[in-house]
Amino acid sequence: MYFPAYRPRRLRKNENFRRMIRETKLSVDNFVYPLFATFGKDVKKPISSMPGNFQMSVDHLVIEVQKAKDLGIPAVLLFGIPEKKDEVASGAFMKDGIVQQAVRRIKDKVPDVIVITDVCLCEYTSHGHCGMVEKGEVDNDASLEVIAETAVSHAKSGADMVAPSAMMDGQVGAIREALDEAGFENLPIMAYSAKYASCFYGPFREAAESAPQFGDRKAYQMDPANGDEAIREISLDVEEGADIIMVKPALPYLDIIRRAREEFDLPIAAYNVSGEFSMIKAAAKLGWMDGEKAMMEALTSIKRAGADIIITYFATEAAKILRNGK
Ligand code: PBG
Repeated sequence: MYFPAYRPRRLRKNENFRRMIRETKLSVDNFVYPLFATFGKDVKKPISSMPGNFQMSVDHLVIEVQKAKDLGIPAVLLFGIPEKKDEVASGAFMKDGIVQQAVRRIKDKVPDVIVITDVCLCEYTSHGHCGMVEKGEVDNDASLEVIAETAVSHAKSGADMVAPSAMMDGQVGAIREALDEAGFENLPIMAYSAKYASCFYGPFREAAESAPQFGDRKAYQMDPANGDEAIREISLDVEEGADIIMVKPALPYLDIIRRAREEFDLPIAAYNVSGEFSMIKAAAKLGWMDGEKAMMEALTSIKRAGADIIITYFATEAAKILRNGK
């Protein structure tokens, strides 16, 4: 009987061997923790489809950021739920908008954490689209100015990095130019470069109250069937001055993360989105899977695919497991 000279099982014998040759190691250094800011005081409203996540007023937000910092998480990503929405997304760029207030308070109370702001209009528009709507369509170029103004207002409030997610053509260039003009030439941009029109954003839209009121986002977010196009999208953002490029969602798009890793030498972020979080939570709740193991396996796969940064609602839970040595 023939035996191969090389037997892969020799190095899987016990945990010490496995540990010694393990290729991918997840670290808390890779995590970005997304949070939802809302107006008011002492508000901590659970998001039913995302267990353990809340819409929080700024007072609670500060406590949550401090907890993340204590766990070693280097950065948070802020989303805002405005007091009122309108056609022109005023709440997005107001000096006392919710994100602007949240950033100021966090930078004041927990200075040593990177505060990244999501730059988009869908939470702030009455129609729920990510840009300005003209004649029933999202007008690309009219949206750029508002998006750039929003990014500058975040920078003025003290944000450490802005993350444009509206998928408007030219948004990274427009923001770069506006930031430079306002004196923020050292503020980096993390671009949602390959962002797909995905149903995995479902729970987020409950969290951020940002579901489109008519139609869908397919005229600006990418078609899930396209891979080559992701490379074109990322190339454009790189040319326009992106400092970090992003693929979103993560798990259904691991091949895109891998391709991006091979074709670009910029840091790559992957967004482990709300639906990816919720499906693991749901299966765990039903007793169908071990939720913690599924979480760690999913996060490891995102890093193995090539992501440097993982934006995830699991950040604090995973950080605790890593701290205790899994
Ligand atoms: C804003 C935005 C969305 C997400 C991040 N930024 C929603 C969307 O595009 O509809 C989704 C994040 C998640 O699902 O966790 N445009």
